[in-house]
Amino acid sequence: MKRLMTLISAIVLSITLGACATSTKQPEKSLYDRLGGKEAITAVVGHLWGVASKDDRINSYFANTKPEVFAPALIDFLCQGSGGPCEYKGQDMHAAHVGMQITGAAFDALAEDIVITLDHFKVPAKEKNEVMAMLGGMKPAVINH
Ligand code: HEM
Repeated sequence: MKRLMTLISAIVLSITLGACATSTKQPEKSLYDRLGGKEAITAVVGHLWGVASKDDRINSYFANTKPEVFAPALIDFLCQGSGGPCEYKGQDMHAAHVGMQITGAAFDALAEDIVITLDHFKVPAKEKNEVMAMLGGMKPAVINH
């Protein structure tokens, strides 16, 4: 009887542990990691600069921009915003764009360029949507000031 109880306990324990093992989900990786880390974000920003600086709908805004200064700031911003280990030390989005009179149409044009860029790197739909949702939430801070 005692041996039977021990056997039953062992079976119950192994079933419980098995259920735990299969139901314990790994926490999802950060967007930063899923995008491919700083190297991938650096490549995205480099490509985006190429697309946006040729985009006549918005390139006048960047007429005096030095990409070697702007790109590292944008890389740190996106790195930090996606959960990466970087520290963005620039201005907040309102302060960074105030006085530029960026229109909603200009914002949407840059958003299109970002989608073109993410598609160029074959960023999956889930991550692309997360990036665009993150940036879309900043629209009120960026436009019409
Ligand atoms: C959510 C969308 C946007 C994000 C996340 C973003 C991000 C940034 C960041 C991080 C900076 C650098 C600020 C600093 O160094 O203190 C910056 C500057 C700037 N942004 Fe944006 N931006 C966005 C939308 C736009 C749009 C739509 C335009 C124009 C069409 C624009 C034009 C500029 C310009 C001209 C600068 C100054 C660059 C320079 O000359 O140094 N941004 N932005």
